[in-house]
Amino acid sequence: MDRIHIQGGRPLSGNIPISGAKNAALPLMAASLLMDGPLVLTNAPDLADIATMGALLRQHGLAVDHDKTARTITMSGAATSLEAPYDLVRKMRASVLVLGPLVARFGQARVSLPGGCAIGTRPVDLHLKGLEALGATISLDGGYITATAPKGLVGAKIIFPQVSVGATENLLMAACLAKGTTTLVNAAREPEIADLCACLSAMGAVISGAGTDRITVEGGAPLHAATHAIVPDRIETGTYAIAAAITGGTVLLEGARLEHLGAVARILREAGVEVAEEGGGLRVSRLNGLHGADVMTEPFPGFATDMQAQFMSLMAVAEGASMVTETIFENRFMHVPELTRMGARITIHGASAIVRGVPMLSGAPVMATDLRASVSLILAGLAARGETVVSRVYHLDRGYEHVERKLAAVGAAIERQRG
Ligand code: EPZ
Repeated sequence: MDRIHIQGGRPLSGNIPISGAKNAALPLMAASLLMDGPLVLTNAPDLADIATMGALLRQHGLAVDHDKTARTITMSGAATSLEAPYDLVRKMRASVLVLGPLVARFGQARVSLPGGCAIGTRPVDLHLKGLEALGATISLDGGYITATAPKGLVGAKIIFPQVSVGATENLLMAACLAKGTTTLVNAAREPEIADLCACLSAMGAVISGAGTDRITVEGGAPLHAATHAIVPDRIETGTYAIAAAITGGTVLLEGARLEHLGAVARILREAGVEVAEEGGGLRVSRLNGLHGADVMTEPFPGFATDMQAQFMSLMAVAEGASMVTETIFENRFMHVPELTRMGARITIHGASAIVRGVPMLSGAPVMATDLRASVSLILAGLAARGETVVSRVYHLDRGYEHVERKLAAVGAAIERQRG
């Protein structure tokens, strides 16, 4: 298995291009099931999760062409298989996003239940209750969800008891083909949802309230071919912002959007990091000391749970103490024991971690169990004295495009050892 070797202590300097967002691309690809297409997605990142969604759509019967040079993914054709098998769904939970489009278009779908994962139990009850509200009949059997709506879905008002990105996306897509008006109340406001709304609108859907917590869809009309540019990845943006900050460097994050960072930009500034819009991107630098800052993860525009591990690495070398509270997932502190092995002083109390900054981390062999935890160890390695070796790199490849190339290009001593 590949490993990443890092020699810490070099301030980063230069430009990093921000890729298209993984978490926008996955639902956008699933949206291709709503029509025969083609749906052309530009600014497509080259990531393992994108390949997995491509494989899932291919096994549903679609033609999927990922042109890595042109950075486009093109999906066309109608689904011939309405089943998403366990083998693919267990690899990537976002596979459940095919459920809404399939049942809305074909009146039937069978999708493996995703089950828990490293960061928590992650149920899909809100997806299922929402589809029931649109008239689908749901049954669970043999580890699979079966959804049927032989006469098609019908618009409804759905009030989410809790904000869910995936449930909002699944129901938004289903609502486009449901007859009549669907209103999603307490919908997720993450930029990936507004991006999905923009793509669905380009496909002919009638949607209002995109980007707000109340989205209305006038559904029922057939959708058509479209081309859509995937929004830049706000989590990759935040991650490289912290790479600049933790090394005391300056980087220009090309294509990054300040408004998509939400509370992350405010908290970074509070901690002593400069974040400024420049030339269609963001300049991030840290010239003086870092101070501890408290964060609590929340749905957008609050502080993103997908930035929590990276922020903890930064706080590990800040002056003073910080409290990091995770409210979205129940088991998202797996990076803590690894950071502790690098000399960080962190103690966990329930859903909160108290981080007492140390002047310097020390390199160590480390491994992690999920995407964001892995990258937090890379960030810690960039700041640490000596060598850090990160194993289980396949987690990183799910969501960070060419991470070692991007960091090496701005001066990091980082390389991948294949094996
Ligand atoms: C999306 O996951 C992202 N994944 C996650 O990114 C991200 O951490 C998460 O949103 C929160 O921002 C993709 O976009 C592909 P949720 P999702 O439904 O949609 C509970 C990464 O590292 N919930 O908003 O699965 C759930 O357990 C990944 O890139 C229910 O209880 O997240 C969680 O506590 C990891 N029932 C909370 O809601 C449901 O039916 C929010 O989850 C659905 C969710």
